[in-house]
Amino acid sequence: ANVHYYDFVLKEKNFTKLCSTKSILTVNDSFPGPTIRVKKGDIAFVTVHNHGTYGVTIHWHGVREPRDPWSDGPENITQCPIPPGTSFTQKVNFTLEEGTLWWHAHSSWTRATVHGAILILPANGTSFPFSKPDGQHTLILGEWYKGDVPQIINAALQSGGEPNVSDAYTINGEPGDLYNCSRETTYRFRVDFGKTYLFRVINSVMNEELYFGIANHNLTIVGIDASYTKPLNTNFIMITPGQTMDLLVTANQPRDHYYVAATPFYDGNAMFDNSTTTAILQYNGNYTPSSSSPFPVLPALNDSATVFNFTRSLRSLASQDHPINVPTSVTRRIYMIVSMNELPCPNSNCSGPNGTRLSTSLNNISFVTPNIDILSAYYWNISGIFTEDFPDNPPFFYNFTGDVGGSLLFPSTGTRVLMFDYNETVEIVWQGTSLVTAENHPLHLHGFSFYVVGVGLGNFNNVTDPQSFNLVDPLEVNTIGLPRNGWIAMRFVANNPGVWFMHCHLDRHTSWGMDTVLIVRDGGTIDTSMVPPPKYLPPCS
Ligand code: C2O
Ligand code: CU
Repeated sequence: ANVHYYDFVLKEKNFTKLCSTKSILTVNDSFPGPTIRVKKGDIAFVTVHNHGTYGVTIHWHGVREPRDPWSDGPENITQCPIPPGTSFTQKVNFTLEEGTLWWHAHSSWTRATVHGAILILPANGTSFPFSKPDGQHTLILGEWYKGDVPQIINAALQSGGEPNVSDAYTINGEPGDLYNCSRETTYRFRVDFGKTYLFRVINSVMNEELYFGIANHNLTIVGIDASYTKPLNTNFIMITPGQTMDLLVTANQPRDHYYVAATPFYDGNAMFDNSTTTAILQYNGNYTPSSSSPFPVLPALNDSATVFNFTRSLRSLASQDHPINVPTSVTRRIYMIVSMNELPCPNSNCSGPNGTRLSTSLNNISFVTPNIDILSAYYWNISGIFTEDFPDNPPFFYNFTGDVGGSLLFPSTGTRVLMFDYNETVEIVWQGTSLVTAENHPLHLHGFSFYVVGVGLGNFNNVTDPQSFNLVDPLEVNTIGLPRNGWIAMRFVANNPGVWFMHCHLDRHTSWGMDTVLIVRDGGTIDTSMVPPPKYLPPCS
């Protein structure tokens, strides 16, 4: 195993896109930021130097950091922000994952511009569970906002309404041919005819699930969230914010270039940006340039049925070299409703439904982020920061996907966390609701990957639905799209002591309270089996 050292210098830099110039927060002057390249088993020490004007934290999305939540990074969950003018070193431990992950700022909405890829190659002496590709391309789906992103979210939080949408989607930082002033800089992926490439696709956008495809080319999904899958041939993928997908693509088509494109999947009621970002798959060599380029065929904006079937068709590789570890019996069962809600308007000037402010919740509790990080409060026994009473079940049973009003419309607020004993075998059923509006939610868990043992539409039936759970080759992920008006059953072993955030990876929903925290306790009140904190932690004010 190797040790790598990285310096991440956070600072503002001007970029010109969509005909205008603006300053954004970047890492090492680049958008997207630098790529971390390691082998499984390696360790990286990343020193973040904050040369910006406000506090920020960095999170290693999908890296489980065994027993070391101090390196995880979500703001005021595992650490306080790194103040401007200071540095903080995080130890990132790549012992468990292999494939593609990513890193991103985890403070307010700064991740819009502060993010990059993590590529974890097989350890020495091991190889991919498929023929070695001839080449690799990293493809980060992102966004460009003409406005200032932290201001956009602050405005939405104050008005209580939907935030402004981005002005373009991007592929590796470039909006592409279909947006103004972007044609010249459209990103090009160069390929040789007859060769096979591993495309590592990351969805880093703030608020949209995306379809992605390459015209006339077959995609073979071989990995999701740094875990290998049974190869699945498809002509499109649907990738939610937070997810990563590894695709094999063989360059076997006759023209010199083909469009690569991503466009939203959205089946809710609010109107979001329905534009399309493009890049070019460019064949090297001598071709007669074709005048028109084929464009990928992607499902319609609100094609929930196709997305549902896509999600259901994904399977773990579950081979001898890459076995699964899904609990077959469960010691802790949690049933969690995932809702949009409304809260009374603080300034009687809100643009949510009926003058309320929009909110979101898990089990009808809208999460309140504390001023001191929960990890420190837990480790040093500081009381009054959180309570250990997140309910394992919703307040009462209900026709969650049918009823749209009633007392569940208005959630309670609080910083209530879920407590686990070490090695509990856990099943969580996430149930979507149609309160306020029904839509997909990409649910994400820090510190673990989990197995998707069941997915369905309508209300979960705890007698009949478990009969069809997949315990043979369930998909293993850290983020999964909960279908609109549907449910997901997932399982994992609570074998990672620490404090771990769980939230919807649509940032507007994170900001409105669709979050909770899991604490896995091993060894009494103060956890003796977590690694001790680093010598320096950013101070909490
Ligand atoms: Cu991509 Cu809380 O994470
Ligand atoms: Cu959500």
